Amino acid sequence: MTVPMSDWKSATPHGAIEVLEEEGITKLYPPQEKAVPHALAGKNLVLAVPTASGKSLVAYLAAVKRVLHDGGKVLYIVPLRALASEKFEELKRFERLGIKVGMSIGDYDEVDKNVDQLDILVATSEKADAIMRHRSDWVRAMSLVVADEVHLMNDPDRGPTLEITLTKLRMLNPQVQVIALSATVGNSQEMAEWLDAEHVASEWRPVKLKEGVLLENTINFTDNSHRQVRPLGDPVWSLVKDTMEEGGQALVFVNTRKSTETLAVRFSKLNKERLDAKVAEELEKAFQDEHTSIGATLRDCMRSGMAFHNAALSNEQRRTVERFFKAGNIKCIVATPTLAAGINLPARRVIVRDVNRFDDGGYVPLPVMEVKQMCGRAGRPRYDPYGEAVLLAKSVDQSHMLFENYLLGEPEDVVSKVGNERVLRGHILALIATDTTNTRKGIIEFLGRTFFCHQRGETGVEQAVENIVQYLFKEGLIRCPGIDFLAEEAEADLKATFFGRRVSDLYIDPVSAAKLRDALQTYTHGKKDLGFMHAVCSTPDMLNLYLKRDDPDVISAILEERKDELLFPAPDIDTPDHEYFLSELKTSLVLDSWVEERDEEELLRSFGIGPGDLHNKVEIGAWLLYSMRELSNIFNKDCYPVLTKLMARMKYGVKEELLDLVALKGVGRVRARSLFKKGFTSLESLKEAEVSDIAKIIGIGELLAQRIKSQVDPLYVPERKVKSSGRDSKEDATVEEPMRQGQTRLFDF
Ligand SMILES: Nc1ncnc2c1ncn2[C@@H]1O[C@H](COP(=O)(O)OP(=O)(O)OP(=O)(O)O)[C@@H](O)[C@H]1O
Ligand SMILES: [Mg+2]
Repeated sequence: MTVPMSDWKSATPHGAIEVLEEEGITKLYPPQEKAVPHALAGKNLVLAVPTASGKSLVAYLAAVKRVLHDGGKVLYIVPLRALASEKFEELKRFERLGIKVGMSIGDYDEVDKNVDQLDILVATSEKADAIMRHRSDWVRAMSLVVADEVHLMNDPDRGPTLEITLTKLRMLNPQVQVIALSATVGNSQEMAEWLDAEHVASEWRPVKLKEGVLLENTINFTDNSHRQVRPLGDPVWSLVKDTMEEGGQALVFVNTRKSTETLAVRFSKLNKERLDAKVAEELEKAFQDEHTSIGATLRDCMRSGMAFHNAALSNEQRRTVERFFKAGNIKCIVATPTLAAGINLPARRVIVRDVNRFDDGGYVPLPVMEVKQMCGRAGRPRYDPYGEAVLLAKSVDQSHMLFENYLLGEPEDVVSKVGNERVLRGHILALIATDTTNTRKGIIEFLGRTFFCHQRGETGVEQAVENIVQYLFKEGLIRCPGIDFLAEEAEADLKATFFGRRVSDLYIDPVSAAKLRDALQTYTHGKKDLGFMHAVCSTPDMLNLYLKRDDPDVISAILEERKDELLFPAPDIDTPDHEYFLSELKTSLVLDSWVEERDEEELLRSFGIGPGDLHNKVEIGAWLLYSMRELSNIFNKDCYPVLTKLMARMKYGVKEELLDLVALKGVGRVRARSLFKKGFTSLESLKEAEVSDIAKIIGIGELLAQRIKSQVDPLYVPERKVKSSGRDSKEDATVEEPMRQGQTRLFDF
């Protein structure tokens, strides 16, 4: 079925084929054969083919060609960081052809210094959008943009950013080639029309994927074959065990984080196999700095070859699970659907336990597209000779429904979500602030190029633009040069104010900016830590925690005690706003506890959250505090030094007195506190100290003590190499503390 590479070799850049051949890729798959000529010829392309059919390769070859032949830059957009890492690693294989590949996961308000030196940049759509706001010259130098998992445009929260980014790129750089990679969706042809692209669609998959429904110990597959599964009480476990007995690995999808954990724990008790000694040792090493209970539970599960994967885990924990699973050491992962997008995992069998999700107060069925994505993790080339995806039914009726709706059902159309004023506000401000367009007419024309207008026409767009322009003017983010009112003409010149430009660069919602400004303007001297935390949690950029039953009473009591710290007054009790206020305050208290050095595990337990949630809130909190500090330059300079300290405290989770110590490499909040307690309260005191005295402190050890010493004392030369043996060396092996060491990653997509 495959086509020899030699047939199209001449069009492929010298060296690229050798790189692929070394990876064991010697022939093109049929859909690749159709798509590659378009991609190499520089044509726009929508490639809508099943999961695991090698879509990325088509984009990689085009990328290599654009860089080597045209000297242009390539932007590779992905929806998730985990996917960014995978694509980055794969693209790096081409670096020996003289191509420089980078991945951008940094701060939104700065452009990575080396972006100009890169030929191929892998980034999420938010990061790509943020870079474009700073650097229109970079956009003009671009010759190819790849939109991987382009069906993300269907997502109400994140889809509009991808759609606007693609629209903007094409407007600023009409020559740019666009390659959009999509799962099978109902309307990929329509997307191709929007992008003026060739359309390659196919049902072909390199590894056979059998899809079926388990009902009473029998899997009935869509190809009419059957398979008996030995009943072991729990149907999911029966399926997992059955896969393991055949030497395969299983991936189970469920709809709540709690279930991922409960199931993995249960399976780890049922599984009698243990990791071999070497792997077990590697596992202990991966978890040696672990001090959260969720981490301990995960490690215990993994000792029995089982794992769970959800957003409550930290990035580090999730990467560990993926790594052990890819290496074949973990036999089963129970995951929420976040693991479903694009990643290559060696799952022989995917088990989809839940086909609904809790949303807006009730359960709603999952879209076919999502279930297909989950199923598509099974049977990936290189890993497995075949794959199986199994849904679970409790009754004959349900089994019919699963067959009709999902396995035999057509995937939905991608429907643009750009027609929402909430998501458009920031994008319209950016169009004005970057001088991409400066009139209502220009904005309407811009929106006319979106997939939204391609699908729905321009009805309602004018009104939405007017509402947003009015709002931006009212909040002082834009102005009409020369006059102090907003001229109501389609061609009236609109300019961003200094405030507006900063907001666009900071990549925050204009509504967030207005909130932060209001808070800054009410600030007067005094301790206002909680007030600042609350200000950032009152913005739409922060997703606040839900209130649990006892929360209102507990939070109200704290509110009473600390009300002088707040920058916004509490709304009247018994109003709906009061409940929002309490949930903002709850999130603020998480952040406040973090900077007050509350023990991490205790903090997680008392707020009922996981490390991943904490990291996420802290990252967004730090970004918003940074934004607030930047805006304080305009609205209240007194806040600048106060916010600078608070930002740093947020980054590390420490009180002010530890700020110097945590700036040292290898020293996080826990080690800094241990040093402080033993009298090392400043860099000076460490400089004076003997290495042996520093090494004695719990959690430090000889190697880290030397590393600390060389940071504080430029004249220090380590006297001898520390022998790596025994317990000490293990403690020393990883000197970074598990919680972020100077990371400035934002969002956790
Ligand atoms: N022609 C080929 N021969 C052998 N292996 C290939 C070939 N093309 C791609 N592969 C391998 O197939 C695997 C799946 O490819 P890829 O991740 O691009 O799939 P995909 O179509 O993007 O799937 P998804 O929709 O799940 O993202 C990769 O491991 C890749 O290296
Ligand atoms: Mg893919």
